[in-house]
Amino acid sequence: MAAFLELRGVRKAFAGSHGATPVLAGVDLAVAEGELVAIIGASGSGKTTLVSLIAGLLPPDGGEIALDGVPVRAPSLERGVVFQNHSLLPWLTVLENVQLAADAARSDWSAAARHARAEHWVRLVGLTDAAAKRPAQLSGGMRQRVAVARGLAVEPRVLLLDEPFSALDALTRATLQNELARIWASDRRTMLLITNDVDEACLLADRIHILVPAPAGGHTLADGIAVALPRPRVSSELNRQVEYQRVRREILARLAEAHMRAAG
Ligand SMILES: Nc1ncnc2c1ncn2[C@@H]1O[C@H](COP(=O)(O)OP(=O)(O)O)[C@@H](O)[C@H]1O
Ligand SMILES: [Mg+2]
Repeated sequence: MAAFLELRGVRKAFAGSHGATPVLAGVDLAVAEGELVAIIGASGSGKTTLVSLIAGLLPPDGGEIALDGVPVRAPSLERGVVFQNHSLLPWLTVLENVQLAADAARSDWSAAARHARAEHWVRLVGLTDAAAKRPAQLSGGMRQRVAVARGLAVEPRVLLLDEPFSALDALTRATLQNELARIWASDRRTMLLITNDVDEACLLADRIHILVPAPAGGHTLADGIAVALPRPRVSSELNRQVEYQRVRREILARLAEAHMRAAG
């Protein structure tokens, strides 16, 4: 049976000064509905390219991407994206930024119902008290919360998160990771989390895949590592758990191996 989100042999190259440079060289991935899958890769390994392909913002050079059996050809509200650099509209308040997304998802609803829906997502990310503020008045962590709320408010069938917390300080990052875990547990939306943080992946994911160098250039996804840690997971207690230590060791070993292969 086909997976909910399925990638088969996905390839992408970009034109460079020496001809086409492969970035993704045959990526296979299967994500079940309701699953949270993390993808870890070094900087420049094609993580954002992969997100852009799944979002339909870029066409692949080859291979297939399908959501619920329907090939991805263009951007769609079915596939929401939260990018690394939040692009909030500076002249709108927190609530209005989220409302835009809620309006798109529920265009057939009354204005009052859409407003209530936007308030729901703002509450879910803990920003009710800041709902009337504009992006310039917010901290980086709050801005990233708005970006997550906006991604959720589109009510996509799959939410693609491209290093959503990587620009934040460690303490804020930990808080937002725990909040994302709570939101995912209550919402059970299918999520693909791109990260370069092994602990973040262990805390949040059902399964972790690593982008590794392919023999002929570019990167490909290695087999996933299942994270058999019970939920809710508490970040401060993870490092005492044997399963966490196993997964972490395995990922770090694979990353080191990929790094050595990349270095030749
Ligand atoms: N639009 C583009 N045109 C040309 N090269 C690109 C483009 N987008 C990304 N690249 C190149 O593809 C590689 C992977 O980029 P990216 O997907 O952003 O990696 P990551 O998100 O893992 O850091 C990089 O070498 C980058 O320079
Ligand atoms: Mg990136």
